[in-house]
Amino acid sequence: MVKILHLDASPRVASRSRQLAQEFVQQWQAAHPDDEIVYRDLQQQQIPHITDLWIAADFSPPPAHTPAMTEVIRLSDELVDEFLGCDRYVFSVPMYNFGVPSNVKAYIDQIVRVGRTFTMENGQFRGLVEGKKALFITTQGATYGNDSPFAGLDYQTPAIRTAFQFIGVQDSHFVTASGLDMGDEFRDKAMASAQAELQTLVTTW
Ligand SMILES: Cc1cc2nc3c(=O)[nH]c(=O)nc-3n(C[C@H](O)[C@H](O)[C@H](O)COP(=O)(O)O)c2cc1C
Repeated sequence: MVKILHLDASPRVASRSRQLAQEFVQQWQAAHPDDEIVYRDLQQQQIPHITDLWIAADFSPPPAHTPAMTEVIRLSDELVDEFLGCDRYVFSVPMYNFGVPSNVKAYIDQIVRVGRTFTMENGQFRGLVEGKKALFITTQGATYGNDSPFAGLDYQTPAIRTAFQFIGVQDSHFVTASGLDMGDEFRDKAMASAQAELQTLVTTW
């Protein structure tokens, strides 16, 4: 039995990234009925930005926390517990302004925690999250290949890959639907191609 954390981030209701992730998870459940899905919607529950007090709580041991520090770090503790309690991750993330939406950045800031998801030893950083697999389903309005005016400007994929690699998630797979805002033909092709890729992953991931 595998426990999967399915996370959606798009503020849109009629969201392509949500659609792709939902289709994948439904197909996955049909093929792997014993697996458990934990769902988190970053639009339903907004993730706060970290603060001075949050950082103080992160970098001090819980017995030294004031009641305010305990309170400010509580959600982060819950998110880290949820993250570490799952074996695999299916995250759907749209591209916003060449990077990730701010709710995804806020989520990453809450789960990258010293002593819990990474450690610093003798001046070296080491991820503490071991043996996990991640599938990132990303959507982009434009395209980012070599023939695009936006070539080299995809900061979404490296931002996600690097943050999760940093905490130890080495096995990351990306399925990206690009050019979704470049007309119907582009959109339909990109969606069909991502759907076909995801369908294959139902048996191979
Ligand atoms: C606020 C905002 C910013 C966006 N910024 C970019 C961008 O920088 N590059 C890009 O290719 N598409 C951008 N898009 C287009 C979205 O990535 C695209 O519409 C995608 O389908 C959104 O995913 P969703 O349908 O799951 O919401 C942006 C869309 C919005 C609403």
